[in-house]
Amino acid sequence: MAGNRARPTREIQIVPPYLLGLRLDGRRAIVIGGGRVAQRRVPALLAAGAEVVLVSPEVTPTLEDLASRGELTWERRPYRDGDCDGAWLVQACTDDGKINAAVAAEAEDRRIWCVRADDAQASAAWTPAGGRVGETTVGVLAGGDPRRAAGVRDAVVDGLRDGTLNARHSRHKPVGVALVGGGPGDPGLITVRGRRLLAQADVVVTDRLAPRELLDELAGDVEIIDAAKIPYGRSMTQEHINAALVEHARAGRFVVRLKGGDPFVFGRGAEEVLHCVEAGIPVTVVPGITSAIAVPSAAGVPVTHRGVAQEFHVVSAHVAPGGAGSTVDWEALGRSQGTLILLMAVERMHVIADTLMRYGRSPDTPTAVIQDGTLQSQRTLMASLATVADDMTASGVRPPAIIVVGAVVQVARQIEMLRADMGRTP
Ligand SMILES: C[S@@+](CC[C@H](N)C(=O)[O-])C[C@H]1O[C@@H](n2cnc3c(N)ncnc32)[C@H](O)[C@@H]1O
Repeated sequence: MAGNRARPTREIQIVPPYLLGLRLDGRRAIVIGGGRVAQRRVPALLAAGAEVVLVSPEVTPTLEDLASRGELTWERRPYRDGDCDGAWLVQACTDDGKINAAVAAEAEDRRIWCVRADDAQASAAWTPAGGRVGETTVGVLAGGDPRRAAGVRDAVVDGLRDGTLNARHSRHKPVGVALVGGGPGDPGLITVRGRRLLAQADVVVTDRLAPRELLDELAGDVEIIDAAKIPYGRSMTQEHINAALVEHARAGRFVVRLKGGDPFVFGRGAEEVLHCVEAGIPVTVVPGITSAIAVPSAAGVPVTHRGVAQEFHVVSAHVAPGGAGSTVDWEALGRSQGTLILLMAVERMHVIADTLMRYGRSPDTPTAVIQDGTLQSQRTLMASLATVADDMTASGVRPPAIIVVGAVVQVARQIEMLRADMGRTP
């Protein structure tokens, strides 16, 4: 008998579902049950603009929070017949099969699509494994195998994000210029949005510190302009960079200006935005992970630590203390006990350390120098403020490097020592 009952189920399975994109904006969706399944389903319904009504005596803290912020209506009671009235979509998500069956039966009666969380075969509708990349929505059903569906979805979404599924010829190609923060150097540390825009670029204007490995992934016809090299001489001037951005965008090409770290942290990004806006070119800024925080972090140096440092100062030291045009208050930095993060400081570290000590920083202040942070060649030098400049010369530190001055460096040492001890434990 059991075999007989199973047969219709198998027949249902081979009929392929009809995949549809529901535009739920402003339409009511009823969710019966407030547990983990509902918690997974509700955010997608809200993102689609649905008017969500949740019926359940109890809900998870996350769902309760959404209700208290007015993002959904929570009816704090068990399901009762008639709840599906007025809904466009019903989600039966309780942990009681009988209740889910009753909900599904009511929905069926009213010809409302119902997804049953507990029984795929008895469910009128299935939720695909979904993902979104820009304007593209991906939905995958894999014959009732949710893991396989999620795997295929991940592969498609990853391909769209990293450009291996070519997005350059999509109908909704971006226009103008995007200033993309490339992160500190490791190609894995660019943002998802930055990588997607890069994959859509016709022209890429790149910096010395932008993650170069990403350029290898670009199609052969993408024009790459190395802003640190020809055609404008050894170093492309800011004026020439600005002119190139505008010229290519005016010719209808989508231009990505790929910069190291974040475009607005010592990156002259705002100058480029101003220039494009003045020329009437649409320009977007995609924030990046700045080396100022990511490079210490990658070397195990926290920039804050409870009870040790509750402030950090990021300083461009391209002008030495007391040098013409210096606007940094070195006296205040010397007095402060906060963490100092020095960029572009390699060639000036003798005078910087002397200045900080003269204004009050202890010569013993722990100091770390991180060269080529997040790259294969990353290396860290530990020193004190008194010795750091000589130690840097002795070990041949070269830019790009970040110098961290402050007690947080001691925390990094503690972590290192603990790690070494753990490694020795049998
Ligand atoms: C002109 S600033 C650009 C900063 C960039 N916009 C950011 O947000 O990271 C260049 C300086 O950033 C620091 N820097 C950038 N990338 C680095 C890396 N991977 N390792 C160490 N320092 C880095 C160095 O101090 C370098 O001289």
